[in-house]
Amino acid sequence: MKREIIKTGDGSSTIYLPEWNEHYHSKHGALQEAKHVFLKTGFHHFLEKTDAQALSILEIGFGTGLNALLTYFEAEGAGVSVDYTGVEAYPVSSKELEALDYSEVISNKEASEVFKSIHDAEWSKRVEISAFFNLQKQQMFFSDIRAEGAYDLIYFDAFGPRVQPDLWTEKIFSLMYRALKDDGVLVTYSAKGDVRRAMQAVGFLVERLPGPPGKREMLRATRKNP
Ligand SMILES: C[S@@+](CC[C@H](N)C(=O)[O-])C[C@H]1O[C@@H](n2cnc3c(N)ncnc32)[C@H](O)[C@@H]1O
Repeated sequence: MKREIIKTGDGSSTIYLPEWNEHYHSKHGALQEAKHVFLKTGFHHFLEKTDAQALSILEIGFGTGLNALLTYFEAEGAGVSVDYTGVEAYPVSSKELEALDYSEVISNKEASEVFKSIHDAEWSKRVEISAFFNLQKQQMFFSDIRAEGAYDLIYFDAFGPRVQPDLWTEKIFSLMYRALKDDGVLVTYSAKGDVRRAMQAVGFLVERLPGPPGKREMLRATRKNP
């Protein structure tokens, strides 16, 4: 499928799929969305709730690696060890990664070097990016995930339900529920009623929370054992 690099509202880039009229991130701001949905409402919420010194994260849709890059710096800043697994069926090419140039918009002088390490990391292998950050990139379909009680946090960043409705179903959310540890948390940018109900149907406790700029709401789902 054709992919184009475009600028979003906050000056950061994303990938656009013209055939689907779908973006990898919010067109209002890729960086803003990632920081709000995944870092603030996911990563920092989990740390505040648990005081954890180490956590395992599963990303559904590794894509450009922006969420992994931001998580790397937050983990370093908080002194927390992160074991990060990114699942992706259609990896982004090195030419596209260069054009995205996230090091330009992330105010950290190491951003470019870390972004490179993240993308140079071999697939299907756990790679130490730093003392605080291990990464495993897995090229596979979300529907093939069979992890059980393995993750504290899931960044659910699939394409939207409008274009990939089959990824926002009870079938997929039950795989996510199973993959989480007790009290594990899943965050996503979508706030659709059908999505919320599918999450609730598989046992998640779901909160509707304020979304990033340009989006009213988002969802956070917690695995609570009955
Ligand atoms: C919204 S984008 C992810 C954005 C990504 N988190 C980022 O920060 O760049 C969704 C991603 O899911 C991948 N994808 C789509 N369908 C998939 C499937 N069935 N299994 C695995 N990956 C899939 C796409 O290739 C794309 O990279």
